Amino acid sequence: MHDKAMLRRCAAFTGSLVMALCMPGTVADSRAQTDSDEAEVTRQYSDRGADTCLKCHDEDSEFPVLSIFKTKHAQLADKRTPFAQLQCETCHGPVGEHGVRKVKKGEERQPMLYFGARPPADPREENTICLDCHRDRHRLAWHGSAHETADVACSSCHKIHAMRDHVLTRREQPNVCYRCHTETRAAFYRPYAHPVRFGQLACSDCHAPHGSIATGLLAKPTLNQTCYTCHAEKRGPFLWEHAPVPEDCALCHVPHGSVHPGLLNKRPPLLCQQCHSQLGHPSVARGPSGLAGGTASGFLLGGSCLNCHSQVHGSNHPSGVNLMR
Ligand code: HEC
Ligand code: HEC
Ligand code: HEC
Ligand code: HEC
Ligand code: HEC
Ligand code: HEC
Ligand code: HEC
Ligand code: HEC
Ligand code: HEC
Ligand code: HEC
Repeated sequence: MHDKAMLRRCAAFTGSLVMALCMPGTVADSRAQTDSDEAEVTRQYSDRGADTCLKCHDEDSEFPVLSIFKTKHAQLADKRTPFAQLQCETCHGPVGEHGVRKVKKGEERQPMLYFGARPPADPREENTICLDCHRDRHRLAWHGSAHETADVACSSCHKIHAMRDHVLTRREQPNVCYRCHTETRAAFYRPYAHPVRFGQLACSDCHAPHGSIATGLLAKPTLNQTCYTCHAEKRGPFLWEHAPVPEDCALCHVPHGSVHPGLLNKRPPLLCQQCHSQLGHPSVARGPSGLAGGTASGFLLGGSCLNCHSQVHGSNHPSGVNLMR
């Protein structure tokens, strides 16, 4: 393709182009030459797209690049993809002098935009390039989200050059997240946990990694609504509600994993006694020895309060006022 045609195409593709040209680093070198050489102001895109790069970068390179051709980004038929546009340079910026075969002694190869970790790339620059194409309904809440504010790059989770992007595979996704969230990993390995470990659940079943309107990056507007997506029966409506349940499941449950059965944050009776006084409880009124034949604290044994108040999430029985049936 001729330079002119390519530049026309660039002009039509203003979003990324402007971004690419505004990148410190890429533009710095050319800016230095502004006075001497006008043509250098806009670093040239290559006229052969990916082929230019593949002369030097291939599967044997320190960073193998070819697997990208097996991803959605390389679908030439899909006009929205980088490879249907400026190919590698859509993301990495115009090649300019980077592609010259030999670099003068003592000089460094003109750098490309890169998103690696050595030295750390500016995640905001990278994210802007991705968001040029991916500013859709899934990323409405990206700006201001915990990950954006903490300068997490798209490529900290996504592997663009990999044939398989682990974070999109439910089973492998948690390991991507655990790289940074080690305490969450510990939680999921507790004896009672949501079965994330077995690939039955993924983090993204409950969390919106690109941001959400809820606290804690939850997938639904509230914590309870998030739980109801799978535990719909806990939503009710119940004839006899247990006040804390529609209020907040987390008053009794931890979301990830617990050392107590049922993902509880405390064991009954302590759990219940956070809110309910033992005093005046009928099982006490029955006599000094508690339940017939039992101990003074019969309700503390075994299933504890749940021995009798089994419908702790609410009851639909006409006489379920005390959540017993
Ligand atoms: C959709 C955007 C995108 C496209 C298109 C793309 N890359 Fe990349 N490239 C990245 C990202 C993001 C990284 C950082 C590593 C990762 O996450 O995979 C990267 C990393 C690299 C690296 C390693 C840089 C380092 O860390 O040392 C090279 C080299 C590279 N790409 C070359 C290419 C070549 C050659 C092509 C075309 C065949 C290409 N890229 C197409 C986004 C892209
Ligand atoms: C003539 C060989 C050659 C060509 C052509 C070439 N590169 Fe490179 N590229 C290199 C070398 C060598 C390095 C390693 C630079 C270093 O370590 O200083 C590199 C490094 C990179 C990096 C890592 C960041 C950096 O600047 O060090 C990226 C990204 C990259 N190239 C992308 C591309 C893309 C995209 C193309 C095509 C538009 C391309 N390269 C064409 C030789 C080439
Ligand atoms: C030139 C536009 C463009 C750019 C730039 C771009 N993408 Fe994409 N991306 C696409 C298109 C188009 C698809 C395919 C969407 C589809 O199939 O619905 C896609 C798909 C994806 C997917 C889904 C892949 C899959 O297998 O389902 C991910 C993840 C992704 N892009 C991340 C990124 C990241 C991260 C960056 C920045 C490094 C980036 N993209 C840059 C256009 C782009
Ligand atoms: C904290 C990890 C994380 C970060 C950071 C992240 N993603 Fe994702 N992304 C995911 C996960 C998990 C999925 C799959 C589940 C889903 O769709 O929510 C996904 C899915 C996608 C998809 C395919 C489905 C869709 O939502 O369209 C695209 C495209 C995408 N991400 C683009 C991006 C871009 C662009 C950025 C940077 C602005 C980014 N991601 C940052 C974790 C992340
Ligand atoms: C590159 C590191 C990194 C990766 C990978 C990562 N996160 Fe994060 N995450 C952070 C940082 C930094 C914060 C903000 C500080 C904090 O709360 O720890 C954060 C915050 C969060 C929060 C808490 C939000 C809040 O408001 O308290 C959730 C939930 C979360 N991440 C989920 C995920 C999920 C799910 C994945 C995998 C799909 C993931 N993260 C991958 C770094 C990362
Ligand atoms: C069953 C739903 C569910 C799953 C699955 C889940 N989370 Fe959470 N997560 C939550 C809830 C609920 C919160 C609390 C949100 C709040 O405080 O508002 C939370 C909070 C967090 C926080 C904030 C700090 C904390 O521990 O309170 C991080 C980080 C986090 N989750 C990461 C992850 C990661 C990583 C995965 C996958 C390995 C994951 N979560 C899977 C429901 C879930
Ligand atoms: C994406 C689906 C999904 C979401 C969302 C979800 N759960 Fe679960 N939950 C499960 C699955 C699957 C199990 C395991 C069921 C089994 O082992 O039979 C489970 C089990 C449980 C258990 C029983 C654990 C045990 O050891 O018996 C509790 C309690 C629980 N979830 C509470 C919650 C709470 C609270 C929320 C909201 C923060 C929530 N769940 C959100 C799917 C989900
Ligand atoms: C007042 C405390 C409390 C609140 C609030 C609460 N739970 Fe529970 N939940 C319990 C107790 C106690 C158990 C029984 C644990 C056992 O059997 O070992 C339990 C068990 C469960 C179970 C597993 C057994 C079953 O009944 O299916 C699920 C699922 C569950 N709760 C989901 C939820 C959801 C979703 C919410 C919020 C809508 C919620 N819980 C709110 C106390 C509570
Ligand atoms: C976060 C506080 C909280 C926790 C924890 C809690 N409850 Fe409740 N419970 C309440 C409130 C508030 C009511 C409604 C009281 C009212 O309407 O007067 C209630 C009502 C009840 C009732 C119905 C009787 C009545 O007065 O309406 C029973 C029975 C009950 N709780 C048992 C339990 C048991 C058993 C547990 C432990 C598994 C438990 N509660 C944990 C706050 C809590
Ligand atoms: C042996 C069965 C049994 C056990 C165990 C038990 N309860 Fe009860 N509870 C009852 C009965 C029966 C009533 C209804 C008394 C009435 O209607 O006069 C009741 C009523 C209540 C009420 C309603 C308010 C009140 O005082 O009338 C609350 C709250 C309550 N129990 C909480 C608890 C808690 C918390 C525990 C565990 C520490 C517990 N119960 C263990 C049988 C039991």
